[in-house]
Amino acid sequence: MLLQITDLSKNFGEVDVLNHISLQVADGEFVAILGPSGSGKSTLFQLVGGITAPTAGEILLNGKNISGEKGHISYMPQQASLFPWRTVLQNVVLAQEVQHKPNYEQATEWLERVGLSQFAKAYPSELSGGMKQRVAFIRALLSDQNLLCLDEPFSALDEFTRLDMQNWLLSVWEEHRRSVLFITHSIEEAIYLADRIVILSKRPAHIKEEITVPFARPRNQAMLATSEFVALKQHIFSQMETRDSK
Ligand SMILES: Nc1ncnc2c1ncn2[C@@H]1O[C@H](COP(=O)(O)OP(=O)(O)OP(=O)(O)O)[C@@H](O)[C@H]1O
Ligand SMILES: [Mg+2]
Repeated sequence: MLLQITDLSKNFGEVDVLNHISLQVADGEFVAILGPSGSGKSTLFQLVGGITAPTAGEILLNGKNISGEKGHISYMPQQASLFPWRTVLQNVVLAQEVQHKPNYEQATEWLERVGLSQFAKAYPSELSGGMKQRVAFIRALLSDQNLLCLDEPFSALDEFTRLDMQNWLLSVWEEHRRSVLFITHSIEEAIYLADRIVILSKRPAHIKEEITVPFARPRNQAMLATSEFVALKQHIFSQMETRDSK
């Protein structure tokens, strides 16, 4: 098992955010996380990424405790968090640079694939929100840790760009089979991409349901129109709680 989260709880002062979460991601598995806004999804990623420490519980990566340690996973946070003083290209190779192997050729190729080649030398302040998101996505994709954690990576994109990015992610994933943890608000996106979907409750989040997605790979758009897909979408919709109002 690549990632093994056991009985993880987190509170910020009086606020209970995560409540005894246990979750596993196998080698090469693609797991999507759905849950209402404010339920604690990004907090879960911050714990796995070592940005904040758990109140209780354990996070093991390849059997090794990584609680509170950074640098073990590829992580794309919900806010694109590009360095404003670095160009787009320099931002893309950042994670590789930390591992002492920046690959400018590969980075340039990917910028071209996502339609940003003219912006390689631009600074983040010159980009739209969706463009920043694409840069942050490539940066996470090109850093070669075994676990890729993506926090709503395509939320700021128009429908067509989003579809392109989903298909790129699927083709990269099918080629390399890295493990992916993927937060989204889109039920369709979760079903289209994932092997397994984890539904979180309202805050304090516990796991409401885990669903194995029954569709074969490679996936394609035609799947979205099948009655099986629509039925699964409706089932997940009925399981989702409304957002935390506090
Ligand atoms: N550093 C922090 N200090 C205090 N409270 C925090 C902190 N980070 C998150 N929270 C609280 O934890 C709860 C969960 O936040 P989180 O960002 O994990 O939600 P989310 O599920 O990612 O929501 P969204 O779907 O809107 O991105 C919220 O109530 C938030 O106010
Ligand atoms: Mg979030």
